[in-house]
Amino acid sequence: MSKQTQTARKTVKDIAAAKGATPLVMLTAYDAPTAAILDPHCDILLVGDSLGMVVHGLPSTVGVTMEMMILHGQAVMRGSQSAMVVVDMPFGSYETNADQAFLNAVRIMKETGCQAIKIESGAYAAGQIAHLVERGIPVMGHIGLRPQAIHVDGGFRAKGRTEDERARVLAEARAAADAGAFCIVIEGVAEDLAAAITAEVSCPTIGIGASAACDGQVLVTQDMLGLFDWTPKFVRRYADLREAIDQAAAEYAADVRARRFPGTAETYSLRKQGS
Ligand code: KIV
Repeated sequence: MSKQTQTARKTVKDIAAAKGATPLVMLTAYDAPTAAILDPHCDILLVGDSLGMVVHGLPSTVGVTMEMMILHGQAVMRGSQSAMVVVDMPFGSYETNADQAFLNAVRIMKETGCQAIKIESGAYAAGQIAHLVERGIPVMGHIGLRPQAIHVDGGFRAKGRTEDERARVLAEARAAADAGAFCIVIEGVAEDLAAAITAEVSCPTIGIGASAACDGQVLVTQDMLGLFDWTPKFVRRYADLREAIDQAAAEYAADVRARRFPGTAETYSLRKQGS
């Protein structure tokens, strides 16, 4: 039996049991070594399509492809053992109809081995969610600020701050929950709306920029590690990796230019005969 079949990952049942109990911990992961470091600390590792921006340098998540999600999903599965791994369905891979969503979700699950997929779910996506769940694919919903809709919204804007928008975000939450989503990410909404949604839906909610009123929290790992010079309001930086990497690269460059690296400790020499 392979290592992967022996180890027990968190399941949708574990995630459901966290509702109203211990807050769920989710972080994004895109590669195997980082996933291995994050895995023991997280209930869920999200292979988010934010990888388009934070790994590939794209201006938004719109250009992310199925191939990119699958490649990074495979890496995160290899690096992790106990967290549930959820892979985002990229823009254009599920919106047409339930069949398109099913075929692409199946491809992601078969080729990565992940446990669930996530859909940025406007109320229109309820049909897709129900279709996938009925056929054995756990779905995480994603409501509020939906980065894949950036061109309709005219930018990354917090949602639910007018009565109309509030009603729309509530409708998205109800639609995703009623369709059978096992968990819902709420992004970029005010605290009272996040609290109302969390109280109403029976599945756990996971917030990003949606206050402490949710059943769990997620951050983009690169943001919380301080890899970029700009940090959104809702992010807390737990490290300053940008500064650490900059300093390490500067020291390395200085050592190479001054011929201090490599030294004898980092240099192979001829083996003595018989040793
Ligand atoms: O793509 C992503 O990283 C996400 C999180 C922001 C929830 O969807």
